[in-house]
Amino acid sequence: DCQSASEIVIFGALGDLSRRKLLPALYQLEVCGLINENSRIVGAARPEHTLEEFKTIVLENLNTFVKEQLNDEVVTRFMNRLVYQELDFKDSSSFTKLADTLATGNDTRIYYFSTAPSIFGDICKGLHHADLIQDQDRVVMEKPIGHSLESSIDINNQVSDYFKENQTYRIDHYLGKETVLNLLVLRFANSLFSNNWDRDSIDHVQITVAESVGIEGRWGFYDGAGQMRDMVQNHMLQVLSLLAMEPPADLSAESVRIEKLKVVKALKPINKDNIKEKAVRGQYSDGFLEGSAVPGYLNEEDANENSNTETFVAIKAEIDNWRWTGVPFYLRTGKRMPKKHSEIVVHFKKPPHNIFKDSYSDLPANKLTIRLQPDEGVELQMMNKIPGIASQMRIQENKLDLSFSDTYQDQRVVDAYERLMLEILNGNQSLFVSRDEVEAAWIWADSIIDAWKTTGESPKPYAAGSWGPVSSISLIARDDRQWVE
Ligand code: BG6
Repeated sequence: DCQSASEIVIFGALGDLSRRKLLPALYQLEVCGLINENSRIVGAARPEHTLEEFKTIVLENLNTFVKEQLNDEVVTRFMNRLVYQELDFKDSSSFTKLADTLATGNDTRIYYFSTAPSIFGDICKGLHHADLIQDQDRVVMEKPIGHSLESSIDINNQVSDYFKENQTYRIDHYLGKETVLNLLVLRFANSLFSNNWDRDSIDHVQITVAESVGIEGRWGFYDGAGQMRDMVQNHMLQVLSLLAMEPPADLSAESVRIEKLKVVKALKPINKDNIKEKAVRGQYSDGFLEGSAVPGYLNEEDANENSNTETFVAIKAEIDNWRWTGVPFYLRTGKRMPKKHSEIVVHFKKPPHNIFKDSYSDLPANKLTIRLQPDEGVELQMMNKIPGIASQMRIQENKLDLSFSDTYQDQRVVDAYERLMLEILNGNQSLFVSRDEVEAAWIWADSIIDAWKTTGESPKPYAAGSWGPVSSISLIARDDRQWVE
């Protein structure tokens, strides 16, 4: 269904995120006929461009970043929606130009802040100055929302002075990934899992988000953040929350977000007293990826060779609540790991007694693997009898494997931003992060970052192309467990 008409204003329309993700996502929604025929897309940015020049830039980017062949008819429709508005975001008076461009009337306006967060406040002031904020308008904020609890409060306040929480959409693009959304279905549409999703049945959980890429030319930005702020505080905690939350009453934003928040609030604090056993930070050094030499973090272009920033984090997270006490969630994420590979592995408890001792001395536990990306799918490791007449029963570990690409061959893999953009157009906040969640996540992350600072813990080196520093192996080995590879 097409929602009502809206004006979609992208601040920072010529930036990387807009070119790579937002415009292609909007194009795909156009392909699916999901944008109201009267909606317009207004690109706002600093440089002066004519509309024709802007259209040329957009087309070039669609050609580069849309995976399928473009459809001429759809491109024409899409191009007809485009408007370009040159704008100095820091100069409130220039927003009157935007007011002239935007349609008058009751159309909903979607203000997408695809800029550095330091400018969010200025944009809000400009919009207010030009009387451009209506009750039904929405604002979309990209991460990073702050660098710490304090700075996130500051950014959120700058925006909340002008927009209410129910108008504010904070993006965590992991919440738009098909396989992350499927966690809800897996857990709450299958009683086999929902009835065994607790400390009685589950031994521990591993969540790995590994990337083979390094810093991709954004050393300066990344060095100020590090893997803890860039990936753990947001994406990893969002995945963890969906995995561990109590069943929400329904799929509404209120119901889902309150349950996720409870998980983050229940995370056991990690501080200077327990940091050594609970968290490891690493930094990649020179190494090899797919047979080619790659430079270490400190040898990348523009690097400050004394940087103490981590590019890898492993954490033993514990959720102190009724359901999960005693079940560790081992989190691991890093740059320059051997491959792009994100998955969740739920390790169930072993059967209490083994009646197959003669053929299998130590029965393994069932393992449920949720492959987030690539090769999306769900896999269940289980024991099975090997067919045959042998007098002694022979059994082996095998798997039920639901590969999404095999099972849903006709379905295109939808990019996270397409889903999120559609939800914004539809005014549904379920897949966006509430202010409370952002702040609770910072409280937990800040404590870890502070502990590293207080204890003077430098990141441990790991060779680019490896699975992280040795101490990340010890982190889990201390509990007599090991990472799944
Ligand atoms: C971004 C981080 O939020 O997520 C990047 O800033 C990271 O450092 C990216 O590479 C990973 O996203 P995806 O969708 O490729 O897993």
